[in-house]
Amino acid sequence: MLKNKIITKQLSNKLGVSISNFDCSKEIKFDDIELLKKIMQDKHFICFKNQNLNGDSLAKFTKNFGDLEAYPEKDKTKGKIEIFNVSNVSEDGEHLSPDDQRVILQKNNSRWHTDSSYRYYPSIFSILYGQETLPHEAKGGQTEFSNMLLAYENLSDDKKQLLEPLHQVHSYNDIRRLEPGLPELTYEEKSNFPPVSHPVIRVHPDRNYKKSIYFTSNTSLEIGGMGLEEGKKLHGWLVDYISQDKFCYKHSWEKNDLIMWDNRVLLHRVIPYDYSKYRRAMIRGTVEGKVPVLGPFSNEVRLKA
Ligand SMILES: [Fe+2]
Repeated sequence: MLKNKIITKQLSNKLGVSISNFDCSKEIKFDDIELLKKIMQDKHFICFKNQNLNGDSLAKFTKNFGDLEAYPEKDKTKGKIEIFNVSNVSEDGEHLSPDDQRVILQKNNSRWHTDSSYRYYPSIFSILYGQETLPHEAKGGQTEFSNMLLAYENLSDDKKQLLEPLHQVHSYNDIRRLEPGLPELTYEEKSNFPPVSHPVIRVHPDRNYKKSIYFTSNTSLEIGGMGLEEGKKLHGWLVDYISQDKFCYKHSWEKNDLIMWDNRVLLHRVIPYDYSKYRRAMIRGTVEGKVPVLGPFSNEVRLKA
């Protein structure tokens, strides 16, 4: 595509394009922002190659798409609370040990999730900049994405019917249940993020009320609206189902890639790597959501039908 001089290259037939001729550290023109939003709506993922950013310029670029979301825990961020440190390297450049709490939190990212699903209004976009990436010969370290619009479309009618009325509880505090090595949250942090329930089938008013699957593995491993064992089994089935290659694109990082994805329609996870052997340092800006997750039985959706 050649429009406004932004050249895109398709990354896979499931999702994603790369853009090689765009400097995200500069002031971005209104028309270009609109074009990037359009590309995100169609492709859900953009990789901007060869960027040169820091926390400030990443925050500035992120603000082109909405307000910045603040991270729930101050001590896990680098500098600004709006710039999340996705890294096994400290602010001072020290390679952290795999059992450091900041690294344990990174390990939880290897479970399928969509960022900030534990909020009433989960985020729209995440924007992640690769400052230090693994060498090409290393095993793991990629970020994998699964397209939930595509996954929903491919469900059998029986499965669509089964999932339609179900929900999942997303709890920031429950990351501690999955990763017991993490320290307790403060009372304030817990109170700011009480558990929230979202529908497993998400309806998108901005996509003509199209549906997608919406669930995670990083805050809970159960689906609600049924018994515990049944809910665990269904959650496991969903994980296997959406992990199929036919829905996924695995991003192999190159240093200075800036990737941006739509949390409303994609799940993602990091492929585990040798945390003690390799340094992996990334910073993330997040575009705050302003609306709740709608399901098939939400009033706005029912009134539309
Ligand atoms: Fe994430």
